[in-house]
Amino acid sequence: MDTNLARLQTITSPEQDRFADSLLNGLRKTSKEIACKYFYDEAGSRLFDAICDLPEYYQTRTEMTLLARHAVEIAALMGDGAEIVEFGAGSLRKIRVLLDAAQNPRAYTPLDISGDYLRNVVRSLAADYPALTLRPLVGDFTLPLEIPALPGPVRRAGFFPGSTIGNFKPDAAMALLRRMRSTLNGGGLLIGVDLVKDPARLHAAYNDAAGITALFNKNLLIRANRELGADFDPEGFAHYAPYNAAAHRIEMYLVSLKRQSVNLCGQRFEFAQGEPVHTEDSHKYTIESFREMAARAGFSPRAVWTDQDRLFSVHWLESR
Ligand SMILES: C[S@@+](CC[C@H](N)C(=O)[O-])C[C@H]1O[C@@H](n2cnc3c(N)ncnc32)[C@H](O)[C@@H]1O
Repeated sequence: MDTNLARLQTITSPEQDRFADSLLNGLRKTSKEIACKYFYDEAGSRLFDAICDLPEYYQTRTEMTLLARHAVEIAALMGDGAEIVEFGAGSLRKIRVLLDAAQNPRAYTPLDISGDYLRNVVRSLAADYPALTLRPLVGDFTLPLEIPALPGPVRRAGFFPGSTIGNFKPDAAMALLRRMRSTLNGGGLLIGVDLVKDPARLHAAYNDAAGITALFNKNLLIRANRELGADFDPEGFAHYAPYNAAAHRIEMYLVSLKRQSVNLCGQRFEFAQGEPVHTEDSHKYTIESFREMAARAGFSPRAVWTDQDRLFSVHWLESR
């Protein structure tokens, strides 16, 4: 076992019960919905990694390029001896670019809801960075977060890449930023934010030719079948992800292809032919609209980096 790697610690209560409650509540609504955080079991996390490698999904490679290009400047902003806390850490690919430039990081604390997946990916990071203290945490950042403190006064620096902030409606996004600010105890936050752009480009990114995003979307149903004994027919639903230009967001749905009923936790749910189940939003911002929101959440927006085509942005926000 790697000595630099702390045992995986769960900081919110077990996920499975809440998946059942959340799914039952969401399917009882007049407009049915499933919370997007449930995409991420181990299979969902792997499918998301496959999405990141798709030619249409410009977000990951653009953000990686920005991080690599500005890593030294970012490391200076994060400061010497900081604990880097990553929210929704996923594959841990992006942090490597920052760790290579970081100034004596005191520890790296990746937090993710997808515990089995985090357990695996953190092992290879620990092997590649043997001098780094790693404290993997399983938890839900939409709930109040108590990240165990390291001994001594340690400055925290947050990292929230992948435009995961876009999965929240603007009010909820602001509330999440406020919560992160308090978790960071006065430390800054490095955050990746996808930008408004040609709707055709956005549409292609969520409707890839290989159909991986469709598999990712349907994984919700497969997960409900496996974990909760539901009997969804994944082939009975279609992936549908239009861009709502007025709301600046991609909206993702599973649309029932036929009239069907599904059993879940002893209850029966009816789906009409053509009925949508809302599964995710992905809000897009302008640089200015995101900085305004960050300011309302109590941050002072400082540096911002973007690519030549203004596809994606990375922001450094100071706590105030
Ligand atoms: C869009 S992916 C981004 C992954 C990675 N950070 C990247 O930039 O490629 C969202 C990540 O956040 C995690 N996640 C989603 N909702 C979460 C929540 N409520 N609490 C903690 N992690 C969450 C998912 O498991 C997933 O790893």
